[in-house]
Amino acid sequence: MSTETSAASTAPAGDPKPHLLKNWLSLCGLVVLTGSIFSACLLFTLDAMAHFANPYLGILTYLVAPGFAVIGLGMTVVGVLLRRRKVNKNASRIPVVHIDFTRPRDRRMLTFFILGGLVFLLLSAVGSYQTYHYTESVQFCGQACHTVMKPELVTYQHGPHARVACTECHIGKGATWFVRSKLSGTYQLYAVTCNKYQRPVPTPIKNLRPAQETCEECHWPKKFVGNLERTYNYYMGDETNSPFTISLLMKVGGGDPTHGPVGGIHWHMNVGKRIEYMAADDTRQKIPWIRVVDSQGVVTEYRSKGFTNAVNPTAIRNMDCMDCHNRPAHKYQSPEDAVNLAMSLGHIDCSLPWIKTNAVYSLTKDYKGETEAMEGIATYLANKYPNEPRIRAAIDSVQQIYKDNFFPEMRASWKNYPDNIGHKNWPGCFRCHDGNHIASDGKATIKANDCNACHVILAQGVGAELAKMTPAGQTFKHLGGDYDSNCTDCHTGGP
Ligand code: HEC
Ligand code: HEC
Ligand code: HEC
Ligand code: HEC
Ligand code: HEC
Ligand code: HEC
Repeated sequence: MSTETSAASTAPAGDPKPHLLKNWLSLCGLVVLTGSIFSACLLFTLDAMAHFANPYLGILTYLVAPGFAVIGLGMTVVGVLLRRRKVNKNASRIPVVHIDFTRPRDRRMLTFFILGGLVFLLLSAVGSYQTYHYTESVQFCGQACHTVMKPELVTYQHGPHARVACTECHIGKGATWFVRSKLSGTYQLYAVTCNKYQRPVPTPIKNLRPAQETCEECHWPKKFVGNLERTYNYYMGDETNSPFTISLLMKVGGGDPTHGPVGGIHWHMNVGKRIEYMAADDTRQKIPWIRVVDSQGVVTEYRSKGFTNAVNPTAIRNMDCMDCHNRPAHKYQSPEDAVNLAMSLGHIDCSLPWIKTNAVYSLTKDYKGETEAMEGIATYLANKYPNEPRIRAAIDSVQQIYKDNFFPEMRASWKNYPDNIGHKNWPGCFRCHDGNHIASDGKATIKANDCNACHVILAQGVGAELAKMTPAGQTFKHLGGDYDSNCTDCHTGGP
C-alpha cells in the first residue's frame, strides 16, 4: 500500500489503474491468494523433506491450496471490476482512497491489515502442518473414506503389519513416487466424491512400487530363513466334523550365497538373478511365460505348452516379494480356513454335528449388507440347532468371522482377492509350477505333484498317526480321494 499523493487525485479518468486494487474485496482476495501460495509452498517443502511421502497430501497441495488461490484471485478481480464500474460511472468524480499515515485511523487500518495478514499466514502454516500429519496417518488412509477402505483397513488390523503405516508399503521414499502418488491420491479423491470407484477395489495394483523400495526397507532379502514349520488343522464336511492335521516343513531357504545355501522358496529373491514373467490376465493368475537370468547372465525361458505367441516387452514384470506375498497386510480368510481356525481354537464347538458345513454355508449366502448378514447367520444356525445352548458361542464366532472377512458394500471377500502364497484355494505357486512350463532344453519347472519339493510333509492325520514325524517326508494322504488335477479344480475356499 503506498501513500497517495494529491497528484493522483488529478489523474486522468481514462487511467484509473492506481486505484482499482484499492478496495477491501480485492485486498482480502490478495491476502487469501498470498496465504494459499504460502501454504502450498510450505506443504510442498514439508512433504519433500519428509521421510515418507503420502498421496493424499496432493489433495491439499494441488487441489485445496490452488482452490483457495483461485478464490483469492477471483475476489481480487471481482473487486477490481466492481471498482472499475464505479469509476467509469462516476468518471467525473473518481473517489480517491486517501491514505495518510499522519491520520490515526489510517495507521490503525494498516496495523490491522498487517496483523490480520500475519495471523492468517500463521494459521495457514499451522493448519497445513496439522493437516499434513493427519493425511499421513493410518486413520486418514483407512477411515477418511470409510466404506471404500473398510475392507483394507479391517484386514490390515488383523495382519502381521498392523503397526506398519499404509504409506510405508504403498508409497515409500523418494521424489518420483511422491509425485505419482500425489496424482493418484488426487484422482482417488475425485473417484470417491463422484462415486466413480470400483467395487471391489481392483487388485493387483497397477504400478505399485517395486518391493525393493518398500518391503525391503524392513526385510533384508539376503537373510537366510532356512526351514519353517507350519501346521494346518482341518475339519471335514461330515457329520462328526472329522479332524485332519498336516504339518509341513516349508523349505524357505534363501537367495544369497554369503548367508546360507542358495535354494528353496526364497531362491526367487532377486539377489544376483532376475526372474521375469508375463501374465495373460489382469489378475496375474495365468502365467504362460517366464524368463530367468542368472548371475552369469545365462538366460532360460520357460513357456507353457501351447503358448507360442510373441512376448510383449511392456507386459513383462520383474518377480518380487509381492508375487507370492501379495496379501501381507490384507488377507481375506476363506470361509473354510476361517471356520477351521475357529473350530481348532474351540470358539466353535466341534461336537455339534455338521457344524463345519453349516457354518461355512451360513457365511457364503448372498447378503446385501452386514446387518442382514448378522441376522441371516444367527437365524440360519439357530434354526439348525434348536434347544442347543452351545450354538450361541458358535453364532458369535461365525458373525465375527463375517465382520472380519466379508464386506458386501464393497463386494470384497476372499473370492475377489487371490492369495498367491500357496496353491490350495488359488493357483498361487502352481501358476508357474504346474510341470507344464518347459524351457527350450526340455527342462520343466518343479512339477505340482512333486509334493516334497517346496515343503516336506512331516506328519499328517490325527492322534498317534500325527505323532509320527518323518523328516524325509511322507506321501500325502488326501481325504478327498484320488485326484489328478490342480487343487483349485475342487478347492475354492468355500462350499
Ligand atoms: C505390509 C505392507 C502393506 C501395508 C502396511 C498396507 N498395505 Fe495395502 N496392500 C499391500 C499389498 C502388497 C497389496 C496388494 C498389491 C498387489 O497385489 O498389487 C495391497 C493392496 C491394497 C489395496 C488394493 C486392494 C487389494 O486389497 O489388493 C488397497 C486399497 C490398500 N492396499 C490400502 C491400504 C490401506 C488403506 C492401508 C493402511 C490401513 C494399507 N493398504 C496398508 C501392502 C500393504
Ligand atoms: C516398516 C517395516 C515393514 C515393511 C515396509 C514391511 N514389513 Fe513385513 N514385517 C515387518 C515386521 C516388523 C514383521 C513382524 C511382525 C511380527 O511378527 O510381529 C513383518 C512380518 C512379515 C512377514 C511374516 C508374516 C507372518 O505371518 O509371520 C512377511 C511374509 C512380510 N512381513 C512380508 C512383507 C512384504 C511382502 C512387504 C512389502 C509389501 C513388507 N513385509 C513390508 C515390517 C515391515
Ligand atoms: C516364490 C515366492 C516367494 C517370494 C518371491 C518371496 N517369498 Fe517370502 N516366503 C514365501 C513362502 C512360501 C514362505 C513360507 C511361509 C509361508 O508359507 O507363509 C515365506 C516366508 C517369508 C517370511 C517369514 C519368515 C519367518 O521367519 O517367519 C518373510 C518375512 C518373507 N517371506 C519375506 C519375503 C520378502 C521380503 C520377499 C521379497 C524380497 C519375499 N519374502 C519373497 C514365498 C516367497
Ligand atoms: C513367476 C513364476 C513363478 C512363481 C509364481 C513361483 N515360482 Fe518357483 N520357480 C520359478 C522358476 C522359473 C524356477 C526355476 C526352475 C525350477 O527349478 O522349477 C523356480 C524354482 C523354484 C524352486 C527351486 C529353487 C532351487 O532350489 O533351485 C522352489 C523350491 C520354488 N520355485 C518354489 C516356489 C513356491 C513355493 C512358489 C509359490 C509361493 C513359487 N515357487 C512360485 C518360477 C516361479
Ligand atoms: C511349488 C512349490 C509347492 C509344491 C510343488 C507343492 N506345494 Fe503345497 N504348499 C506350498 C506352499 C508355499 C504352501 C504354503 C501356503 C501358506 O503359506 O499357507 C503350501 C501349502 C500346502 C498345504 C496347506 C494348504 C492350505 O492352505 O491349507 C497342503 C495341504 C499342501 N501344500 C499340500 C501339497 C501337496 C499334496 C502337494 C503335491 C501334490 C504340494 N503341496 C506341492 C508349495 C508347494
Ligand atoms: C477332484 C477334486 C479334488 C482335488 C483335485 C483336490 N482335492 Fe482335496 N479334497 C477334495 C474333497 C472332496 C475333500 C473332502 C472335503 C471335505 O470333506 O470337506 C478334500 C479334502 C482335502 C483336505 C482336507 C480338508 C479340507 O477340506 O481342506 C486337504 C488338506 C486337501 N483336500 C488338500 C488338497 C490339495 C493340497 C490338493 C492339490 C494338491 C487337493 N486337495 C486336490 C477334493 C479334491
